[in-house]
Amino acid sequence: MTIVKNWWKQEIFYQIYPASFKDSNNDGIGDIQGIIQELPKIKALGITTIWLSPVYKSPMVDNGYDISDYEAINPQFGTMADLDELIKKSKKLDIKIIMDLVLNHTSDQHAWFKDAISNPNSPYRNFYIFKEGKNNLPPNNWRSNFGKGSSWTLVPGETNLYYHHVFSKQQPDLNWENKELRFTLYDMINWWLKKGIAGFRIDAITFIKKDQDFASITPDGSDGLGKVKRKSENRPGIDKFLNELNEHTFKPANAVTVGEASGVTYDQLNKFIGKDGYFSMIFDFHYADIDVQSGSEWYHQTNWTVKELNEAITKSQLSIQKYGWGANFLENHDQPRSINKYIKDPAYQNKIGAKALATLFFFLRGCPFIFQGQELGVQNIKRTAIEQFNDISSKDNYYRALDEGYTKTDALKYVNDRSRDNGRIPYPWNNEINDGFNQGHKPWLALGKHDSHTNWNDENNDADSILNFYRKMIKIRTTSNISSDLINGDFEPIPTSQSTVIAYKRGQNAVVYVNLSSAPVKLDLPKGNIILNNYSEINLQRMEPYQSVLIEVKNNG
Ligand code: NOJ
Repeated sequence: MTIVKNWWKQEIFYQIYPASFKDSNNDGIGDIQGIIQELPKIKALGITTIWLSPVYKSPMVDNGYDISDYEAINPQFGTMADLDELIKKSKKLDIKIIMDLVLNHTSDQHAWFKDAISNPNSPYRNFYIFKEGKNNLPPNNWRSNFGKGSSWTLVPGETNLYYHHVFSKQQPDLNWENKELRFTLYDMINWWLKKGIAGFRIDAITFIKKDQDFASITPDGSDGLGKVKRKSENRPGIDKFLNELNEHTFKPANAVTVGEASGVTYDQLNKFIGKDGYFSMIFDFHYADIDVQSGSEWYHQTNWTVKELNEAITKSQLSIQKYGWGANFLENHDQPRSINKYIKDPAYQNKIGAKALATLFFFLRGCPFIFQGQELGVQNIKRTAIEQFNDISSKDNYYRALDEGYTKTDALKYVNDRSRDNGRIPYPWNNEINDGFNQGHKPWLALGKHDSHTNWNDENNDADSILNFYRKMIKIRTTSNISSDLINGDFEPIPTSQSTVIAYKRGQNAVVYVNLSSAPVKLDLPKGNIILNNYSEINLQRMEPYQSVLIEVKNNG
């Protein structure tokens, strides 16, 4: 068998958030059999790889990113036999599966942690991070990543012994300084790879190395605490762990790996995604978080401009291109819906706006990642009280905003704009009961409040729908005259006279123009074949509000 290096450059990824995709047994929670049922529809979209958000055994405090057994399936989602069936049936359809891999922490219900806290001589004690407190306070003033409270929690039954958690207190951090822990994780990873999956999306991976001085930092909030990431995100010494991880797992398997690697600067990309990098690609959050000053404090909203977005995309693309390959996304399970985030004029938070964004992101250099529902144009919903949220970080952010002096109304607005529950809305399949998500049992999270056409069924039957636009884009990338430009071609920004237009060239023959504004603009578009247009007409001297086009140009046209 020939081994194709970098085979994954061709792939188009589709992220499934299992709890919200399809509930086959009508218990209110999506499941693996639901995904199996809908595989033909996923295939019809044209994607080639599914990224499955966690289905491991978990108490679901952080919706599966708190794993209590790496080698078991959460009964809410099904069984290991169901997962094997999913892998097998996907393979028959030529669809690969990548799993979510959470290596920074486990659940506090994991057998390792339960043993570690109940027995000081436990062999698992050194799998986690324990420290003595100081003056009746936690060991230092690091604030948890979800936005509120210390990153240390007292061990139950102890008076001065704390364990560390970058995320919630139910997600104790693993101690990567311990070689035995690391190699136990590598065994687990290899066990999964043997099952026939194509690779992993790797969760919060830049948090595995903590500064070993465990020293307090200058506070950055009225709570006297400082963001834990300042001492634990992409810190010196992480290279050794990431290199070792790759050498013992992904590399020998020629697996595709997508690192959720926040905190990596552009000048460090070579180590992460270069020829001998730790991962095939990493997500770049620099522009995904353009609407907030810090990814974890949603009340610091920005008043970003299209020019800034353009500069951020260009910088990201050119930096990644220098060393390796990108993972492009508009949405995921941690983000609000892209229409509401990037389309400022509510009048265009519609088909036109969704298609403009789709064009903008889909043809960038790198693999496109589509998040379930994005291809239908699902939008955020407004909740009227904090009790209506499920997401743990929405609650933390709300109460932290109150602590920082914001009013309840403002705090609620910030959380509504950013809540991760927006991404997790149950998938609207049709216009029937519970949007076809299930047969009528109350879904675990409120349904969306979309118009009656935002659902798979209606959009499947409408040639002009967002869904069919996505199908077209996928076909153009995989099988058209300009496929090779769109997959392998270099990215080159095209400067224009209009500050609301983002334009770029791919390879020799493909150019993309997007007017991200509700004002029409005068502009000379290049001559060529119009391959894709979100309006039915085109005027080569002018772009309409939120118009987007993909043009095949001849050479340097
Ligand atoms: C990133 C995941 O995407 C998010 O959903 C989760 O809450 C944190 N990592 C912690 O695992």
